[in-house]
Amino acid sequence: MYYRLLLKAAITIAAVAGFSLPAAAQATGYDPMRPVMPLPGASAQPEGNPEFDGLIDGPGAEETFYMCSACHSIALVRQQRLTDARWDYLWRWMIEEQGMADGGEELRETILSYLKKHYSSER
Ligand code: HEC
Repeated sequence: MYYRLLLKAAITIAAVAGFSLPAAAQATGYDPMRPVMPLPGASAQPEGNPEFDGLIDGPGAEETFYMCSACHSIALVRQQRLTDARWDYLWRWMIEEQGMADGGEELRETILSYLKKHYSSER
């Protein structure tokens, strides 16, 4: 029993201390948005279509991929669970503040329906 307590203490200390990144990694453009290394045998992209950088398959996935990967990683999209209103807002923000092309009403509808269906906090 004693050794199990010791082991538990060691694990707790390691977890609290954390594992600091080597200084070299931080100096050479360390990117916190980069996906962490998958465990051996685990898929790097457990869900979604690898052709579309892991977006969940469905109507609108392709449009979303091409529209939204122009400026940043699709991971930024995939990791979100936003309200419908927040997606509407972000669409306008991306156009008005970031210079995203306004693809028109049909494209807007396609992509926002897709995002609200698959990356919403409301369903
Ligand atoms: C014209 C360039 C551009 C395009 C195209 C674009 N974005 Fe962005 N997006 C940005 C910028 C710039 C940011 C801010 C990144 C940052 O936080 O530094 C951003 C941030 C985001 C964020 C994070 C917002 C937050 O609250 O932190 C989400 C989600 C997002 N974009 C989704 C999308 C989606 C979905 C699309 C496609 C419909 C898209 N973006 C297309 C430029 C763009």
